[in-house]
Amino acid sequence: MIRPTGPLSGTVPIGGAKNSVLKLMAATLLAEGTFVLRNVPDITDVACMADVLRAMGITVDRSGAGEVTIVRPATDDVVTEAPYELVERMRASTAVLGPLVARFGRARVALPGGDDFGSRPIDLHTRALQRLGATVEIRHGYIEASADRLVGARIELEFPSVGATENALMAAVLAKGTTVIDNAAREPEIADLARFLNRMGAKVLGAGSPTIRVEGADELSPVEHAVIPDRIEAATYLAAVAVAGGEITLTGAQPDHLTMLVHKLGEMGMRIAPEGDGLWASAPRRLRAADVVTLPYPGVATDVKPLLLAVLSVADGVGIVSENIFSGRFRYVDELRRMGADITVEGHHAVVRGQACLSGAPVRAHDIRAGAALAVAALRAEGETVIGDAQHIARGYERFDAKLRALGADVVAEG
Ligand code: UD1
Repeated sequence: MIRPTGPLSGTVPIGGAKNSVLKLMAATLLAEGTFVLRNVPDITDVACMADVLRAMGITVDRSGAGEVTIVRPATDDVVTEAPYELVERMRASTAVLGPLVARFGRARVALPGGDDFGSRPIDLHTRALQRLGATVEIRHGYIEASADRLVGARIELEFPSVGATENALMAAVLAKGTTVIDNAAREPEIADLARFLNRMGAKVLGAGSPTIRVEGADELSPVEHAVIPDRIEAATYLAAVAVAGGEITLTGAQPDHLTMLVHKLGEMGMRIAPEGDGLWASAPRRLRAADVVTLPYPGVATDVKPLLLAVLSVADGVGIVSENIFSGRFRYVDELRRMGADITVEGHHAVVRGQACLSGAPVRAHDIRAGAALAVAALRAEGETVIGDAQHIARGYERFDAKLRALGADVVAEG
């Protein structure tokens, strides 16, 4: 439940990146022994990935604040299957596919279903594994993949898919010979995964650029690693101050990962600058509208789109947001409309006519970012906004309500 309080002020720490840590956890399948991950956010998606690994016979423990210890047993004790009950809860579970085939020669991973922002195929993942010599079949709702040993190859991705790049990379590190991934995704989380793999003894070059080159290794070893900061969490608090006005500091945020968004918010009237080990941001009472396009990194992330719609809903003027990654990331628009936002959707474009103020309403969160966007919009919605299904927010945000309260917002979370 959120009530508007006017401009925000204060400091919040930015945690480890959800979209990085989930893949690092999957990558621990590649080597026997004890891994320690630091800067791990306390979010339910991490708990879900821990359940996926536990179902495979791996030990996962929170060993301290922000620290997770993972012990991967000997090969014979690993169950090479990710069951539907878990994959259905979290699509990122499919990141175990590449490491399982590479390390154990077989994998049985449930096909994820669709989700709230449209169809999300997995063909690029499976095609990449086939290029490396794996046999892949879809049977009874499961991807069944096998290979004696993967062999390095050239993989040309039709689209720079984050998930497909990660699965290809985690498979290639144990393949025999050289793999080149062309049109690879360039997200900072890919570079973090490559650093982790290289520390384990892999030879990955070019991660973070469109061409990744991998020299396959025979064996990898467990390591310790600190997860990079969550650029989407940082973007969320930037959106909060963009809507409510005020001045905030985000400690631990990485400005280099937010360049396009910072530029766009600057165009809208915000001032944002690196400060210490993070970011300082200030926003006037009302921003100017601007047009925004979501693109693969380094473009503005599709995950930020719901937040931008919330920002534009109360900006001065008309802004158009065009989505280029997922077809259906607009469902929460109806919820924002219930709060008085003036948004028209035409194909993959949303036209937003800014209002001076929204009006608090009961609304429903359909996914992580939609939930966060509704909370952000509520900061400038007269009266009270009650967000149903708010548990979605906890999938990706640690202490979301407490962090907003630290900035002066009036937020009460139940349950
Ligand atoms: C990841 C992120 C997600 C983010 C997205 C884009 C995680 C857990 N999730 O998702 O938060 O929004 O990157 O930055 O890290 N596609 C295919 N075939 C495939 C795979 C993808 O056609 O096999 C298409 C998708 O339909 C979509 C586009 O490629 O249109 C991008 O998807 P992808 O980059 O794979 O996103 P995810 O890895 O699922």
